[in-house]
Amino acid sequence: MRKKLIAANWKMYKTPSEALTFVEAFLPLVAGHTRDEIVLFPSITSLATVINRVRGTNVAAGAQSMHWANEGAYTGHTSPVMLTTLGATHVLIGHSENRQYDNETDERINLKVKAAISHGLIPLLCIGEQLDERESGKTEDVLASQLAGALAGFPKEHADKLVIAYEPVWAIGTGLTATPEIAEETHVIVRNHMAQHLGDVANDIRILYGGSVKPENSKSLLEQPNIDGALVGGASLKPDSFAAIAQY
Ligand code: G3P
Repeated sequence: MRKKLIAANWKMYKTPSEALTFVEAFLPLVAGHTRDEIVLFPSITSLATVINRVRGTNVAAGAQSMHWANEGAYTGHTSPVMLTTLGATHVLIGHSENRQYDNETDERINLKVKAAISHGLIPLLCIGEQLDERESGKTEDVLASQLAGALAGFPKEHADKLVIAYEPVWAIGTGLTATPEIAEETHVIVRNHMAQHLGDVANDIRILYGGSVKPENSKSLLEQPNIDGALVGGASLKPDSFAAIAQY
């Protein structure tokens, strides 16, 4: 039985004090909610504040990105060691916005996923196709290629710790959500490819859906057998709306 994971990607929103205000309001709304895992991904400047406030609660916190090296001359980057020292437990890797704006390649994503695992961080590997790719019938090829690139040499014995976030790029921040049927069908495709890379453990790997998830559509998405959680952007910025999604 895969425990669902409901995650908030705050992207480049919220100062530390705004993040703290969110957490103070959010924690009572989800107190005692242990059916699912809940993880917040604040910006790096708010991460310590959030981690310190959620410590000992049913909510965890992670980073939106990281470098793969332990340390080095990489101006502006954050290492896995820095994140684990802070108390982060999860990390987003390969978000489409990083692929689009930050020159995030499959090769780098692969190094980061393996670095996360070796440091005990849970990687949420983000994959997803563009609208023209879906419309031209290339969705499966795109996802297969992103998975193959990201998972080359991935240690199979740690596969159960891996989380995939399927985020169709055309559904991110657009208000267009994949229907539950389209999302479920695509998650099955992703799981089949995971099985090719990693074997039967693919059945234990959680595949989250992301892209315009909101309180109004979370239940129908999360009821699908292969949708094991949600990675939420815009609708995660308000405590009541993110709590409603978590309580689908
Ligand atoms: O990582 C979450 C994301 O990209 C989806 O954003 O605003 O469409 O929920 P949004």
